[in-house]
Amino acid sequence: MASPILAAKKVSVFFGSPGGGTEALKDADLEVKEGESLAIVGESGSGKTTLLRACLGLVPLSSGSIWLFGSDISGCNRPALVSLRRRCGYIPQDPFGCVPPTLNALDAAAEPIRLAGGGNRGQALEKARELLSEVGLDDPGLWKERVRLSLSGGQRQRVSIARALSLDPELLLADEPASMQDAATRGEVLRILKRRTRGGMGMVIATHDLPFAASSADRVMVMYKGSVVESGPPEMIVKDPLHPYSRALIEAIPGIGKKMTPPYSEREWSHGGCPFAPRCPLREEICRQEPSLKEVRSGRNAACWRIT
Ligand SMILES: Nc1ncnc2c1ncn2[C@@H]1O[C@H](COP(=O)(O)OP(=O)(O)O)[C@@H](O)[C@H]1O
Ligand SMILES: [Mg+2]
Repeated sequence: MASPILAAKKVSVFFGSPGGGTEALKDADLEVKEGESLAIVGESGSGKTTLLRACLGLVPLSSGSIWLFGSDISGCNRPALVSLRRRCGYIPQDPFGCVPPTLNALDAAAEPIRLAGGGNRGQALEKARELLSEVGLDDPGLWKERVRLSLSGGQRQRVSIARALSLDPELLLADEPASMQDAATRGEVLRILKRRTRGGMGMVIATHDLPFAASSADRVMVMYKGSVVESGPPEMIVKDPLHPYSRALIEAIPGIGKKMTPPYSEREWSHGGCPFAPRCPLREEICRQEPSLKEVRSGRNAACWRIT
C-alpha cells in the first residue's frame, strides 16, 4: 500500500496570551496519499487554518508530529524544510494578503516560478499564461490588470490558485479555496482542483461549507473546537451523520431534511469532557469524560459516547 505523503499525528497547538490562550488543535490526526483528497470541515474557529499551516511547519506544535513525504519536519533543518515545502502548494484563506499589491495577474502567477528559478522570464510568463487559462482566467485583457486593485474577489482567488499550482505541487493545501466564488464558479474551481488530483496530486481542502466539502474530496473530516469529531466517506456523512455536531452542520443546510433535534444552542455545562457537550442535545453524564475518536462503523470514525 502507498505510504502517505502527508501525515499529522496527534497534533496539538496552543496559542498563548496573557489572559490564558486557546487550544487551537487537540490531538488532530490526518493522512493523505498520492492522488487522494481530504476535506476538513467545521465552523469558524474549529482549527482548520491552524491545521493546514501546521502541516507546512508554519505553526509551532505543542505536541505531536507532522510528516511530509515521509520526513518528520521537526527533524528537518531549514533548507530541508524549504525543499519539502517546494513540493507543496498552499492556497491561503485570504486571497488579498498573499499577492503583492503592484503585481498584475500574469506577473503574480509567474512570481513563484521565477523565485524557484524555473527558467527565464519568457518561460515563466508562458507557464503563467497556461496556469491562468487553467484556472479560467483566459481573457488576456485581465492578465495586465493589477490583482489587488482591478480584479474581483473571485478572480483574485483564482490567481491565488494559479500561484499555488504553478510549481506542479505533489500536495496542495487549500484553505477555503472557493469562498469568494459564486454558486456557478464554485463548481468550476472544484473541477480544476480535481483534474490535478487525477494526475496524482494529494489535496487537503479546508472549508466551513459541508456540501462543498462533500463534493470535493474522497474523505471528509469534521472538526469542532480543535478536535476531530468525525471522519469518513462524504456521502455517508451527508446521508447519515453520526456525530451530533455533524448532524447540526447538515441541519443548518437550507432545504435538507427535517429538524429532528432541539436547537443546538449553548446550555449550562461545566468545562471539560466532550467539546461539543455544551451545545449537544444528546449529552449525558458520561459526556463529562472526553470521548476519543474511534471506528464506530466500517471506515467511519467518530468521537461520541452516544453513538451505538
Ligand atoms: N495566530 C494566532 N494567535 C492566537 N490565536 C489564534 C491564532 N490563529 C488562530 N487562533 C485561534 O485558534 C482557533 C482556531 O483558529 P483557526 O485555525 O483560524 O480556525 P478556522 O480556520 O477553523 O476558522 C481560534 O480560536 C482562533 O482564534
Ligand atoms: Mg480558517
